[in-house]
Amino acid sequence: MSYDALNDLLSARHSCRAFRPDPVPRGVIEQILTAAQRVPSWCNAQPWQVLITSGAETDSFREALQNEVATGAPKPDLPFPSAYTGVYQDRRRTCGWALYEAVGVEKGDRAGSAQQMMQNFALFGAPHCAILHSPADLGPYGAMDTGGYVAAFTLAAQALGVATIPQAAVASYGPFLHRYFDIPENRLILCAISFGYSDTDHPANGFRTERASLDETVTWQG
Ligand SMILES: Cc1cc2nc3c(=O)[nH]c(=O)nc-3n(C[C@H](O)[C@H](O)[C@H](O)COP(=O)(O)O)c2cc1C
Repeated sequence: MSYDALNDLLSARHSCRAFRPDPVPRGVIEQILTAAQRVPSWCNAQPWQVLITSGAETDSFREALQNEVATGAPKPDLPFPSAYTGVYQDRRRTCGWALYEAVGVEKGDRAGSAQQMMQNFALFGAPHCAILHSPADLGPYGAMDTGGYVAAFTLAAQALGVATIPQAAVASYGPFLHRYFDIPENRLILCAISFGYSDTDHPANGFRTERASLDETVTWQG
């Protein structure tokens, strides 16, 4: 595979925030999972486990999650970032505003932005949701290995015409997810990936994010 082909794939992938309801065939999902499995992990532990919902199971989960959000309080297994400051705060705001602008939510419209945020818990209408978890014993390195898996999953999906969005928002309801999917307490629920086919005409899919230049992210020593 050429660098150009890989770079094209990396550039084409983006987070999808409106899906069509059509399911992804099991064989295609298996292709995504098989490719993602190739990522490196410390000691080749491959600590990720993936639970995937389809069909009516996705709809039941979507409904139960929305009920939980309406009545419960967030409690992620992995502590959420304590603060985004400086350039990280700037980038976070920029991508948030790009989304709100795309869907017609004006700055200061708190109800509108909250409504868009709540789409997380409707899984943006996706027909499938993957819940990713790793062993608590492996701590941040299990999460780090699983982060690589998330990247490969989303890229393999892109290569097969399947749209994805990683979602920390879903993982914020840790105790509920453990209960609902019977995931043992010795596993950390890290994030979800909702996936399916993109509703390409939807305004939420009508913007793209930028990336920092190498000057901002790389230190050359020697
Ligand atoms: C671990 C992780 C968690 C994320 N959680 C959410 C989320 O809860 N909701 C959301 O809308 N986007 C979420 N995203 C998507 C990011 O906002 C997105 O990747 C980033 O803005 C860059 O845009 P792009 O994916 O379109 O290139 C998450 C991404 C990652 C990698």
